[in-house]
Amino acid sequence: MAAEIIDGKAFAASLREKVGALAAAFEAQAGRKAGLAVVLVGEDPASQVYVGSKGKATLAANMASFEHRLPAETSAAELLALIDRLNRDPAVDGILVQLPLPDHLDEQAVIAAIDPNKDVDGFHVINAGRLAVGQPGFVPCTPLGCMMMLTDRLGDLSGLEAVVIGRSNIVGKPMAQLLLGANATVTMAHSRTKDLPDAVRRADIVVAAVGRAEMVKGDWLKPGATVIDVGINRLAPELGAAKGRLVGDVAFDEAREVAGAITPVPGGVGPMTIAVLLRNTLVAAHRNAG
Ligand code: GUN
Repeated sequence: MAAEIIDGKAFAASLREKVGALAAAFEAQAGRKAGLAVVLVGEDPASQVYVGSKGKATLAANMASFEHRLPAETSAAELLALIDRLNRDPAVDGILVQLPLPDHLDEQAVIAAIDPNKDVDGFHVINAGRLAVGQPGFVPCTPLGCMMMLTDRLGDLSGLEAVVIGRSNIVGKPMAQLLLGANATVTMAHSRTKDLPDAVRRADIVVAAVGRAEMVKGDWLKPGATVIDVGINRLAPELGAAKGRLVGDVAFDEAREVAGAITPVPGGVGPMTIAVLLRNTLVAAHRNAG
């Protein structure tokens, strides 16, 4: 039987709608809107598109959007001064500095300058530490979105075998922490893992976040497994096409014949990230107001 396709686009739209209604209630109660500040340094075209989408989604969810677009040659001192102002601005509940930053800026130092209680990306070491020890904080949006889709489909994850492929600070590590927190048995696999197909074959839950096109094959999967594909890879263009196709880290056509459920690329995990960002911003607003 072909796998159920997990519709991330619909899931994200429903989350954005819920957050929008709760944000309107927040405004009525607090007398101000929840606010998200997004900082973009430079002219990276993909980042410009992301920042534009974040701004639109923020306004559509009844929140205030503060966009700061700075030139590529902005100095570290100028960027840190802006972050300091946003940290102290009571209208700003969440701060997101779009990555990657231009090479002359130290990403870790910039993230460290954000007030951890406004760090809606969940990238600050304080929030990584809170997640590791199970304290409330902010969890990175993409793995939190994956977790929402997993619990929606599977309910209680206790005792399930999960494999997370990829150990980035933004997706793989927090994903493993979330699954562990939900009592799954978690294997973290990465480029040095000796027998990846074997690790994947044991898993009821597969989260692929490596950035390698169609790396996870259908015959690696346990029948009925739930597969979350975080990868977004563009293939080389086919003859006559201007752009190559977008594919995930999982060989979708093979995988859907074996899996119980799978997220497509595009339209799976991708749309969840902004929806969770709005959710995190609303949580920040409640914490900052209360
Ligand atoms: N660049 C690509 N994705 C993200 C994200 O989720 N947050 C930030 N800050 N930058 C990104």
